[in-house]
Amino acid sequence: MANAYDEAHSLSLTDPAAFWGKAAEDIDWVKRWDKVLDDSNPPFYRWFVGGELNTCHNAVDRHVEAGNGERLAIIHDSPITGTQRKITFAELKQLTASFAGALADQGVTKGDRVIIYMPMVPEALVAMLACARLGAVHSVVFGGFAANELATRINDAKPKVVVAASCGLEPGRVIAYKPLLDEAIRVATHKPDRCIILQREQKTGEMTAGRDVDWAEAVANARPHDCVPVKATDPLYILYTSGTTGQPKGVVRDNGGHAVALKWTMKAVYNVEPGEVYWAASDVGWVVGHSYICYGPLLHGCTTVVFEGKPVGTPDAGTFWRVISEHKIPVLFTAPTAFRAIKKEDPNGEFLGKYDLSHFRTLYLAGERADPNTITWAQNQLKVPVIDHWWQTETGWAIAANCMGLQEFPVKLGSPTKAVPGWDVRTLDENKQEVEPGQIGALVCKLPLPPGTLPTLWNADDRFRQAYLDEYPGYYKTGDAGFVDEEGYVYVMTRTDDIINVAGHRLSTGAMEEVLANHPDVAECAVIGVHDDMKGQMPLGFLVLKAGVTKPHTEVVAEAVKMVRETIGPVAAFKQAIVVGRLPKTRSGKILRGTMQKIADHQDYKMPATIDDPDILPEIEEALLEIGLAK
Ligand code: COA
Ligand code: AMP
Repeated sequence: MANAYDEAHSLSLTDPAAFWGKAAEDIDWVKRWDKVLDDSNPPFYRWFVGGELNTCHNAVDRHVEAGNGERLAIIHDSPITGTQRKITFAELKQLTASFAGALADQGVTKGDRVIIYMPMVPEALVAMLACARLGAVHSVVFGGFAANELATRINDAKPKVVVAASCGLEPGRVIAYKPLLDEAIRVATHKPDRCIILQREQKTGEMTAGRDVDWAEAVANARPHDCVPVKATDPLYILYTSGTTGQPKGVVRDNGGHAVALKWTMKAVYNVEPGEVYWAASDVGWVVGHSYICYGPLLHGCTTVVFEGKPVGTPDAGTFWRVISEHKIPVLFTAPTAFRAIKKEDPNGEFLGKYDLSHFRTLYLAGERADPNTITWAQNQLKVPVIDHWWQTETGWAIAANCMGLQEFPVKLGSPTKAVPGWDVRTLDENKQEVEPGQIGALVCKLPLPPGTLPTLWNADDRFRQAYLDEYPGYYKTGDAGFVDEEGYVYVMTRTDDIINVAGHRLSTGAMEEVLANHPDVAECAVIGVHDDMKGQMPLGFLVLKAGVTKPHTEVVAEAVKMVRETIGPVAAFKQAIVVGRLPKTRSGKILRGTMQKIADHQDYKMPATIDDPDILPEIEEALLEIGLAK
């Protein structure tokens, strides 16, 4: 359709109630909403007020009731264990109803929080859906986080129950989750009543009597539980994401707006039909995993793929092609870093030739800036459209994309294409004025945000306002800088805060600095993200030691690296730090991280006008040269 995009985008902004009210017809409601958009209390907006539904019913039971119970809901493909498991919608209904019963037996009811700490196994989705079934609020914690990070989330979400697996599997090693969970509960101030443990044969966990319950036993003794209707505005989940400090932000997702928006994106953005297989190669611990491994595909009646492996090394750089070909997958969504990893191992695409990918239609990339080299390589190898799209944990779905189910636009390298319907993206300068097309500024979105986006932060309305809404009144601050060109193509260039992006994972340099500052020999420190060909960025620490420290620098650095790994987790990928005499600062004492990053990335930089002591920059340059960075 020639103008389908313009028409949809324009209607979504001029009459959001009409646009989203129509999309909401695709969801089963227990009670229809009174009002599509409640804008009576800005800057807080609520969608589908008065409506009642159950997200699990819409993702699972509904398809069984429609006669599609024998359709596959989940394909679990684990090249690490060499196993596969296929689960139909009818089986998924039975599994979620039983596990919901097991949770209810442990006292979980509507509104209670449940933390889920699990690897890429179907039970992770079963646990999420079972919470949704009961109206309980889940909070999934990524397996690569250490005990301390898990404890922070336990303290904030105050779960009644934690659901965990005994272990996760990384190539060549088994990660024992159970001791990490025990340690997290030991240090947490909030104590969950129960832990339900899925024992995996690769490493079983030791049970704590009186607290831990075995998943299999809990389910065997449980009676299947029905879906509990909840308000559209009730929370479905909390997902913690990096802020600028060590205290992560609990992004809240509601039930109604989320179901409506995600179901709508499956056709409009990804152009898939119910019954097709949809694969997001991410992890349930990230927002991509929530939206497009669990809820989006299932709400749409698609088969979702739960993949336990890596793009390379499990066993080789042909794994993605094997999975696409074996399960007849038309659409893959992953992070550019996965493609950079494949390209590095198999630059000429030799593995590709071994598989039949004739049914593969589109590759979607997100999570970090998609560099033109990676896009071009993927286009040349796969010979299908490669669609970059831009979104965040907070937004839950794409802010900008090439909406393949609405109207395909030519790809411009470096741009995730145009604002998706529902999104009014603007670029503002330091004076909060809109800039001309093509000029760089802060990327913001005019309020109200569309359904499915964060209504607030968990128990932190003030932090929500302060982090996202106060700086640009009337707008949501994305924290990204970039520009919009004459044709409405959005370009996302960089973060405006201290967040870095490592292998598509969002990390806070502030959180790492908080850990480093606790090292007894460290007087001061800074962490920056430096360019990395494979992971996009890697963190690098600068340590200023206390006077009188005689320990070899290598020893301090090794201890510092260990501390970050043990406190935040391996996912921080913090492997490198250097000892320097002093840190460059402004006269008001702000560390010049941006300038240090430019030096490390070989970029030209201007001497900041506010620098306190310009002589420090050459010292930094020299220290960076010693580890092979800087010019
Ligand atoms: N549980 C425990 N540890 C984990 C983990 C998990 N779920 N996930 C990652 N880790 C560990 C890794 O083993 C690694 O440990 P190491 O330092 O001992 O090697 C560390 O955390 C860093 O992980 P990562 O940055 O992912 O590096 P990697 O070398 O293991 O893999 C890629 C690199 C590019 C292959 C991988 O990041 C990838 O496939 N990314 C793309 C898909 C994706 O997940 N995107 C997320 C958002 S869409
Ligand atoms: P996360 O919340 O972990 O999904 O990280 C969101 C951040 O990742 C965004 O604010 C951007 O900085 C970055 N990001 C995600 N997708 C893209 C993209 N397509 N292009 C550029 N940056 C992106």
